Amino acid sequence: MRRIPEETIDAIRNQADIVDVVSHYVQLKKQGRNYIGLCPFHGEKTPSFSVSAEKQIFHCFGCGKGGNVFRFLMEHDNLTFVEAVQKVAEMTHMDIELPEIQSQSDAPVTKESSETHQMIEMHQLTAKLYHYLLMETEEGSAALAYLKERGMSEEMMTAFQIGFAPNHHATISSFLEKRGMELELAVTAGLLTKRESGEIVDRFRGRIMFPITNDRGQLVGFSGRLYEQRDGPKYLNSPETPIFNKRKLLYHFSEGRQAIRKKEEILLLEGFMDVITATEADLENGIASMGTSLTEEHIELIRRITNRAVICYDGDNAGIEAAFKAGTLIQDRSRMEVFVVQLPGGKDPDEFIKANGADKFREIYQHERMSWTAFTLQFLRRGKNLQNETEQLQYLDEAVTVIARLGQAVEREIYLKQLAEEFSLSMETLKEELQSAVRKVQHAKKASARLGAERNVPVDDPFMGMLPPEIPFSGMDFGSESSAMVQAPLQFHKPAQKLEAHTFSEQQLMKAMLESRDAFAQIQQLLGDLSFYHDDFQALFTYLISFYLEDHDADIQRFMDFLPDDQTSLKNLVASLEMMDAPDEQGLHEYQAYILSLKKFKLENKIKQLEQDQHTHIRNQENEQALKVTAEILLLRKKLASHDYDLEE
Ligand code: GTP
Ligand code: MN
Repeated sequence: MRRIPEETIDAIRNQADIVDVVSHYVQLKKQGRNYIGLCPFHGEKTPSFSVSAEKQIFHCFGCGKGGNVFRFLMEHDNLTFVEAVQKVAEMTHMDIELPEIQSQSDAPVTKESSETHQMIEMHQLTAKLYHYLLMETEEGSAALAYLKERGMSEEMMTAFQIGFAPNHHATISSFLEKRGMELELAVTAGLLTKRESGEIVDRFRGRIMFPITNDRGQLVGFSGRLYEQRDGPKYLNSPETPIFNKRKLLYHFSEGRQAIRKKEEILLLEGFMDVITATEADLENGIASMGTSLTEEHIELIRRITNRAVICYDGDNAGIEAAFKAGTLIQDRSRMEVFVVQLPGGKDPDEFIKANGADKFREIYQHERMSWTAFTLQFLRRGKNLQNETEQLQYLDEAVTVIARLGQAVEREIYLKQLAEEFSLSMETLKEELQSAVRKVQHAKKASARLGAERNVPVDDPFMGMLPPEIPFSGMDFGSESSAMVQAPLQFHKPAQKLEAHTFSEQQLMKAMLESRDAFAQIQQLLGDLSFYHDDFQALFTYLISFYLEDHDADIQRFMDFLPDDQTSLKNLVASLEMMDAPDEQGLHEYQAYILSLKKFKLENKIKQLEQDQHTHIRNQENEQALKVTAEILLLRKKLASHDYDLEE
């Protein structure tokens, strides 16, 4: 196990800003003292993922995940602790000597199976070779000339690592073999193919190569384009492999992430060439799918980092249809705002920029984008003869339904006016139509909301579960609403009406002990032999004892890393405790009250248990035992009544 000195870890942890790091992956909004966003660890439509800059931790009130900056990367990128530390150091540009954990490659090291690792490495080696062959060799000169002819600059070729696969069957196979790579694995990775004869040959031949990375920036596949008259598909992609899944891959997503976040919008394009040309035109927020239509998985990736999508597909029929399909899916699956840019003359963005210049494209992109409603209204006209009365009525009906879905009255008014003018109708007539359409839409919404409730969609107020029980703080009379004989799971991140008194007490005690060494000492003494009712708290307490024994001061961040890696639920618990508000100024008096409430709860639990025994004995006619238990119950009830909660355990 490679180790990093503790001081180094501390330095990195102190230097890093969790808000910054998380922002690479999640779109965060400031809310009060914290930042909130959509949780990257579970699907949700209302944000319950919260990051505290002050405490440098994250916590999701929906799924309960939480921790410090290292924990976030471990979970999100599936890294080991050491790898997460290294990545944070990189992300914060810290000049720190780390032990030999850097792999040969530039990609982040992960704990994935070594096969996955090797497949990615093969792609990296191959991409370097392809790029070299394009830029520097005679063999690649025709391909290079083709790209230059199309107007691609060398700067872009390098930025996108464009390459060339010679028209030969053993360029890559012998290259990988010489480097001691397993050829069978290269077949699995889609770089090579196996002929029926069993011979292993290059998959890509005589093509211009576009390397494709996943959302973590790892090179996982290629798409190769023909550049001269030849048979075969224009683009040939890597096949589906353990690391290449078209449904989840977006060209230039990882590389464009920063720009997407900065511009607060993503530019959805159809082709690789469009992405590259847009980048050259200073629109670095462009991405494209692998020639397939946009999937739910793609939208899931996108909506985590932005709220707005601008679709700019080809200007031809197929492009318009695809834009409608993509936009509809985005509207269905997210709360993103969608715009559509339609390029004149049926051109694709690449052709348009070549013909009219980058300035013109940026201008259309910025100022001529259509709102989703405007685009839909226009789209619905397609194929309809609006001179024909029946088709006109059908169009009006569809259009009014679209308008009825709009949230703002002003918006509805604007579009209705347009319809009124165009079809010489009175606003009154249209408004009547609108009313009935609105009712239908609301009906449908209610039905889907009911469905949502059944599927247990997180509630809007993520803090609901954090309400303390209504107990007078200094009074000792804690409610005895609990009937829990069996330990209820510690799920106070889940929406719940109220916390039970004993759970609230344990939370507060634990929180105090985490935050102060003195509080820990006091509480430990007060607890004596008493153990926590919730196993997770007891486990946390045990770890805390050894943490403080190592002469640490209170330090949540450090404690988080002190907990073993596999104790994720304890780490989540620590984060959720930290995110909780504590009553101001807690001290000995409050700790005593909490402990008393715990004792009381345990006593009540004990009585309930004995009452069950009592019933069993009576039922079995075991009179002697029944009497004994009854006496014990009476004794304990008396203790309870006289506020003497001490139990011999
Ligand atoms: P250029 O023709 O080089 O300008 O590329 P383009 O991106 O404009 O191509 P086009 O508009 O024809 O296609 C858009 C995208 O669809 C491409 O970037 C590819 O991802 C994909 N695509 C196009 N043709 C094929 C094909 O023959 N096979 C596969 N698998 N994908 C294709
Ligand atoms: Mn094109």
